[in-house]
Amino acid sequence: MDTKKVRETFREKFGTEGVLYFSPGRINLIGEHTDYNGGCVLPGAIDKGILAEIKPNGSGKVRAYALDLNDYAEFGLNEADKPAASWACYIFGVCREMQKRGAKLEGFDTVFSGDVPLGAGLSSSAALESTFGFALNEIFRLGFDKKELVLIGQKTEHNYCGVNCGIMDQFASLFGKEGHLIRLDCSTMEYEYVPFDPKGYRVVLVDSVTKHELVGSPYNKRRKSCENAVAAIAVKHPKVKFLADADMGMLEEVKGDISEEDYKRATYAIQENERLVNTCEALKKGDYETVGKNMYATHYGMSKLYEVSTEELDFLNDVAKECGVTGSRIMGGGFGGCTINVVPEDKYDAFIAAAVAKLKAKYGKEPKIYPVKISDGARRLG
Ligand code: GLA
Repeated sequence: MDTKKVRETFREKFGTEGVLYFSPGRINLIGEHTDYNGGCVLPGAIDKGILAEIKPNGSGKVRAYALDLNDYAEFGLNEADKPAASWACYIFGVCREMQKRGAKLEGFDTVFSGDVPLGAGLSSSAALESTFGFALNEIFRLGFDKKELVLIGQKTEHNYCGVNCGIMDQFASLFGKEGHLIRLDCSTMEYEYVPFDPKGYRVVLVDSVTKHELVGSPYNKRRKSCENAVAAIAVKHPKVKFLADADMGMLEEVKGDISEEDYKRATYAIQENERLVNTCEALKKGDYETVGKNMYATHYGMSKLYEVSTEELDFLNDVAKECGVTGSRIMGGGFGGCTINVVPEDKYDAFIAAAVAKLKAKYGKEPKIYPVKISDGARRLG
């Protein structure tokens, strides 16, 4: 993270000095597409994220410079001033969502930069929202608690960025804790920190370098399918508000009332929630063989039932299996990005070498390798 470059650029652009804030991206061990289905997830913050220097400028304007993109945007804090650049919409959205909740915001200057790879499924956008949510809340003493900041980030995605996401990414970015995963119940926002220290294993991400883009993607369509299934089930079982409240028996009862596609999507979502519960039990016992089996089952479901995988990610999953990797699966929303892998120490080097060589030979793409370090969430750096 290039703190020095951010500081220098801020001084150069705005002739003064602000305060530095950081929020991380996230991994998710298991529990994918369960958040908006009222289920649980098991994410953790990573040591990569977004760094921003920020200072109030005494005007009604936000002046923002995206260092990595070498792009500048300026906007007022009124609805009519939504900026054209998509990266600036995240900052604008956070401001607007805060204002909708009664915040008295003023203008500010900012320079930001990130080392969380974009489009790799590591939630660079949530990192951006959380950085500004956390920072503006502190700088302007707005008094939001962190759960409200999570919702502000999520609503930014819904209302200003076109993705009907759940709360997992923003929650992990704001609540992350070094060495711990977060078992989060997305229907109640209750959570618990789960120590994560898989002795004898390494956790690594293999980035297929196929761009993952959720905006305007079939992500929202997946969510709609799940809602269709819930609506059908609720006719017979009014207590069911989310797929996480349903079981396969209930889904079978309405199979004839919904499309085949919605049935497949809902099957995955119900099974994935069950896998998460089972994985948490296994984690308590340090049973990584079961954790790993569940991860492979998730990959299968995401590929064949939820259909959010890609050829490259399926291929990387096969390579992991061949190399004796304990658990491997596509991570995040899908449609590109990374696999997350739990690898026995003694198989690590051979697996990485095989993943790099084989993806390159077959698709002409060299995957990027990110060893995972579970780290703290949003914070002021000074
Ligand atoms: C994206 C969304 C999350 C979640 C995941 C899939 O990262 O932002 O809310 O739905 O996909 O688990």
